[in-house]
Amino acid sequence: MNKIIVCLLFSVFSRLFADIASTPASGHSKHWDYERNGPDTWLHKFDHCKGKSQSPIDIQTSQVRYDSKLDNLNLTGYTNINTTWNITHNGHTIVVTPSKRTKISMSGAKLMDVFNLLHFHIHWGLNVYQGSEHTIDGQKYPLEIHFVHNTTSNSRLAALGVLYKLEPTDNVQLNDFLDIISKILNETTMIEQQVIDISKLLPPRNKTNSLRFYRYNGSLTTPPCNEAVTWTLLEYPVPISARQLQVFQHNSVRWNFRPIQKLHTRHVIANFKPESVNNEDKHCACETKNNGIKLNYTIMFLLASLFINFLNV
Ligand SMILES: *[C@@H]1O[C@H](CO)[C@@H](O)[C@H](O)[C@H]1NC(C)=O
Ligand SMILES: *[C@@H]1O[C@H](CO)[C@@H](O)[C@H](O)[C@H]1NC(C)=O
Ligand SMILES: *[C@@H]1O[C@H](CO)[C@@H](O)[C@H](O)[C@H]1NC(C)=O
Ligand SMILES: *[C@@H]1O[C@H](CO)[C@@H](O)[C@H](O)[C@H]1NC(C)=O
Ligand SMILES: *[C@@H]1O[C@H](CO)[C@@H](O)[C@H](O)[C@H]1NC(C)=O
Ligand SMILES: *[C@@H]1O[C@H](CO)[C@@H](O)[C@H](O)[C@H]1NC(C)=O
Ligand SMILES: *[C@@H]1O[C@H](CO)[C@@H](O)[C@H](O)[C@H]1NC(C)=O
Ligand SMILES: *[C@@H]1O[C@H](CO)[C@@H](O)[C@H](O)[C@H]1NC(C)=O
Repeated sequence: MNKIIVCLLFSVFSRLFADIASTPASGHSKHWDYERNGPDTWLHKFDHCKGKSQSPIDIQTSQVRYDSKLDNLNLTGYTNINTTWNITHNGHTIVVTPSKRTKISMSGAKLMDVFNLLHFHIHWGLNVYQGSEHTIDGQKYPLEIHFVHNTTSNSRLAALGVLYKLEPTDNVQLNDFLDIISKILNETTMIEQQVIDISKLLPPRNKTNSLRFYRYNGSLTTPPCNEAVTWTLLEYPVPISARQLQVFQHNSVRWNFRPIQKLHTRHVIANFKPESVNNEDKHCACETKNNGIKLNYTIMFLLASLFINFLNV
């Protein structure tokens, strides 16, 4: 497990989650992965994993509530191209940590405080039709990056999720980053002090469009699944090609996404009014519906004619 997360749990969460602090993650019994000790087993070993505010979730766009009071998301330092990073593999995912004290942060958008970036990590799949943890209207994406932030004022984490969308052509913006990632195959490999421009990992932006995002209260998507994460999921995905996704093919971890969890009583809010991502499907559904209505009118017309005929008789 990521040292930073461990460190965080034992320091920041120790009071809040006393059970974890008092039972150190002891060897074999607490071992988890995405295979034999996969997500179905986690809830039997880690109490929080069976909670009612777990992540990831499916964002059902028709159920999302537009919140006009969600002000702009303020991503600071995400465009500082000079930041150096350490890239490691923790046996579950590739973790990219800013190597020095940086001022990369996330604030605004009802976050209450400025949350500083701790690290980011990646979730991928066995093939190009899976890999993301969050899904939108049931649709999986091939990749998802999680930027994890913390703050002094409280023990919650703020996670920023970015989805990647399969496109036929390469996204050349990602090439430098993927070259680095392709070298991190297992826990014995690591790269230090590498310059990465993380603005290229976010959806393309222009001056006029503010970031559109979904927001909900959830958890870590890996054991111990603590329900202390304020999730912000960007609406626009970043394009990536099947060829580019091959950098994960030889990784010691073949896939690492947790299945979607029940929403229970939670709801998802957004700083925009969502339309369904499956516009084409919707369109088709509309047409069938229209045909249905036409058919109903036809039936009504026939029935009415019959009735009139009946009266005439
Ligand atoms: C964004 O956050 C930075 C760092 O906390 C702060 O200096 C800046 O004023 C914020 N900008 C907005 C528009 O809130
Ligand atoms: C990055 O570093 C170079 C050389 O040290 C400097 O000239 C440049 O202003 C820096 N850019 C940013 C965005 O900090
Ligand atoms: C990154 O690597 C450098 C060089 O080994 C090391 O000094 C630094 O502590 C590392 N930073 C983090 C956050 O691990
Ligand atoms: C956040 O996590 C880091 C690394 O574990 C820790 O050093 C820091 O004290 C935590 N809190 C804040 C406010 O950054
Ligand atoms: C880890 O990956 C390196 C290549 O980067 C390879 O040489 C090494 O054998 C791998 N180790 C394990 C345990 O798979
Ligand atoms: C900015 O982005 C928005 C949303 O992607 C788009 O509708 C708009 O046309 C873009 N504007 C410019 C000037 O590129
Ligand atoms: C998340 O939880 C906080 C504290 O209970 C609450 O104020 C906030 O409205 C919740 N956010 C959402 C999106 O439900
Ligand atoms: C047609 O009528 C039936 C029965 O009244 C109704 O259940 C169905 O929803 C209607 N279809 C459409 C497309 O309105």
